[in-house]
Amino acid sequence: MTPFPVNTAGTPRHVAIIMDGNGRWARSRMLPRTEGHRQGVNSARMAVRYCAEQGVRVLTLFAFSSENWRRPRQEVGTLMDLFIGSIGREVPELVEKGIRLRFIGDRAAFSSKLQKRMADAEERTRENQRMDLVVAVSYGGRWDIAHAAAAVAERVRCGELDPEHITPEVMEAHLSTAGLPEPDLFVRTGGEQRISNFLLWQLAYTELFFTDVLWPDFKEEELGRAFEYYAGRQRRFGHIQEQIAGRE
Ligand code: IPE
Ligand code: IPE
Ligand code: MG
Repeated sequence: MTPFPVNTAGTPRHVAIIMDGNGRWARSRMLPRTEGHRQGVNSARMAVRYCAEQGVRVLTLFAFSSENWRRPRQEVGTLMDLFIGSIGREVPELVEKGIRLRFIGDRAAFSSKLQKRMADAEERTRENQRMDLVVAVSYGGRWDIAHAAAAVAERVRCGELDPEHITPEVMEAHLSTAGLPEPDLFVRTGGEQRISNFLLWQLAYTELFFTDVLWPDFKEEELGRAFEYYAGRQRRFGHIQEQIAGRE
């Protein structure tokens, strides 16, 4: 994962979003939290369409964290139903729009039926090249790093890799995002300014945009504001401002 090699970048190449605030959106309307999740699906569709139209190469959506299993059973059940339903419903449109789907996260946590649906959906969109849609489910940044470390350790055990040759690049090649550019723009809706165990390694140099807008209320206009914010950043990756200006 090499950083995007420009300073102020125009359009982000990889956008990563924490879709937060569904529960509060519903509660403020005296609705069950699950109604917020149902509404949230529309915002996810909007984000996919908007990013594809803007020429974004990768969109990663945080749909369910490794810690979200701690929620009440009924809420987890609704989220799984929505997730299964969405896979079935959205795949034809993804195919039509040229979007390749990839799931990241601990798949072993899901039923074998759901794992198969995920694999089928990935297979059906595999040839698409316009944009990658990465859906993080049962995902945790710490899980991702630990999983990569285990894979690297296994290579060392087999005698394939010398511990001295474990570099950030080697680690990256074993993360679930291997092969993708690192996120340029991170967006979190719902007002919390935290990472909540999303892409911990990958967000090292990402520009961060937080908004109070709750996910079901998140529309193109606000996503556009995030893009504008990004376009105004100078990305230095450790250099000083004059070095960046000299390369323009
Ligand atoms: C985000 O909305 C959806 C998931 C975490 C699955 P929340 O359900 O966290 O909504 P709030 O933060 O409680 O409002
Ligand atoms: C992060 O939101 C996870 C997703 C949006 C999928 P949470 O609502 O779970 O985060 P915390 O618990 O408020 O940090
Ligand atoms: Mg939340």
